Order: sequence, then C-alpha cells, then structure tokens
Amino acid sequence: MSRYNRHSTVAPYLRKVRRHKSPYLIDVRGIPIWVLPRVMSPKYDWTSGFTLDVLPSQARKRVLEIGSGCGVLACACALDGATEVVATDISPIAVENTLLNLCLLGQSKRTTVIQSDVFANVTGRYDTVIFAAPYHGTKPRSWLEYGVSDSRYRALRSFLTRARGFLRPRGRIYLGFSDVGDEALLNRLLRQARLVRRALWQRRAHGFTAMLIELSPSSYAQKPNSPCTGPSLLRSYRSAV
Ligand SMILES: C[S@@+](CC[C@H](N)C(=O)[O-])C[C@H]1O[C@@H](n2cnc3c(N)ncnc32)[C@H](O)[C@@H]1O
Repeated sequence: MSRYNRHSTVAPYLRKVRRHKSPYLIDVRGIPIWVLPRVMSPKYDWTSGFTLDVLPSQARKRVLEIGSGCGVLACACALDGATEVVATDISPIAVENTLLNLCLLGQSKRTTVIQSDVFANVTGRYDTVIFAAPYHGTKPRSWLEYGVSDSRYRALRSFLTRARGFLRPRGRIYLGFSDVGDEALLNRLLRQARLVRRALWQRRAHGFTAMLIELSPSSYAQKPNSPCTGPSLLRSYRSAV
C-alpha cells in the first residue's frame, strides 16, 4: 500500500481521457495537437498550457524533453525555432503521438522521438532538459496513468540525479511539478543532486498549484537570470508566425 494519495481531480480527469476511443484534435495556445486514446490530454488538464505560457523561448536551443505525452511541448519548442528537439516517453503510445504531431506540424526534420525510461536510451548534451513530471508517488496501472503516477517517485529521482550529465555548459533544467506532489522529497532530491533554483513560475487552478522550476547545477557561476527578461516560448513563437 502506497503512502501517497492522488489528488481528487485525478480520477475524473482519467475518466474523461478514457472516454476517447479514437484520435481527437485540440488547440493548445494556438497549436493544433492530435491526442491519441490513452495519452495524457491537455484538453482536460490546464498545466500543459501553463508550461507553454511561462517556459522561456527555446529558439536556437538544443532541447531534450523527458515525458513528452502527446508532444505539445516538443512541438512548441520546435515551432519556436529550437535547433534540435529530442522527445522521449516511457509509453509507446505517447511516442507515436509525439511523432504524429511533429510530422503533421512539419517539424520532423530537426526532431527525434524515442521510447525511453527517463534517460535510459538518451545520448548527447542539451541546452534545455525538461520534464513535466507526474505529480503522484502512486503506482501507475496503465500507460495513461504514467502521466499522473510515478511509483515512489522513481522517475523523478532518476531525472534529478542524472539530468546534469545531459546538459551543455550554461544549460538549464526545467521541472514541472505541483504542491499535490511530495515537495519535501523534491527539495531533498534537489539538495542531493546539487541543483539550484534559478526561477520559479506558479499558477493555481482547480484546487492545486502547478509550478515550473528552472534549475542549474550549483557548480555554475550564479548570475541572476530573471524569468521576466526574455520572451516566453509562446510569445516568441507567436511573433514569428
Ligand atoms: C504530466 S505528463 C506530461 C505530458 C506532456 N509533456 C505535457 O506537458 O502535456 C508526464 C509524461 O511523462 C511520461 N513518463 C512518466 N514516467 C516516465 C518515465 N519513467 N520515463 C519517461 N517518461 C515518463 C508519461 O507517460 C507522460 O506522458
């Protein structure tokens, strides 16, 4: 029996996603995204849109996304002008979904999609390593549930322990998390991994707070990098179209 419980919004969310038996088209901040059945859906979850609203521009960056789901963040980074995007997910359905959206948006040239348990099949170094992590430490019982559950936070531990090894000099790590997750554990893991917070964006809706945390290895020279100075990913994508 896990000591972690899932937030009250999770069961209704999963019910809505499970009702879809065929692919469906949604709009996320102006980006058309197809969602396959049994993949996390931004149609019923506001946090993907929140991440798009606050993530700094990825133009000219080499981006690695862990846990791409339907591919909305990977697509946004590619459309924003990232030089390369590598998207991964543990779910083979999510991998197919991300590939589908990158292809339909004409972004297949500079992008790679691979099935990987966190960094297991990943090579190379990146300017940005991002993971919108599942919030709960419960055990997933299906590919869909990997979007909300991370058994005893195994993936989060692995991500925070290994992420610095995939960074280019002056690279940044972005972690999506929430106050419904185990924040005490998160803070412990950040200390153990010697990662420092450089910026934090938060939004509260539907009874929980989502956050995007910008991190860098503590050995980097610490120049303050205000989240308000550069264009967000969406602002720079929109001004380009
Ligand atoms: C909260 S969802 C985020 C999906 C997408 N990035 C978004 O923002 O809409 C988390 C994603 O991480 C994936 N995931 C969970 N555990 C993983 C692991 N160990 N390795 C890789 N991906 C994982 C899930 O399958 C899911 O697609």
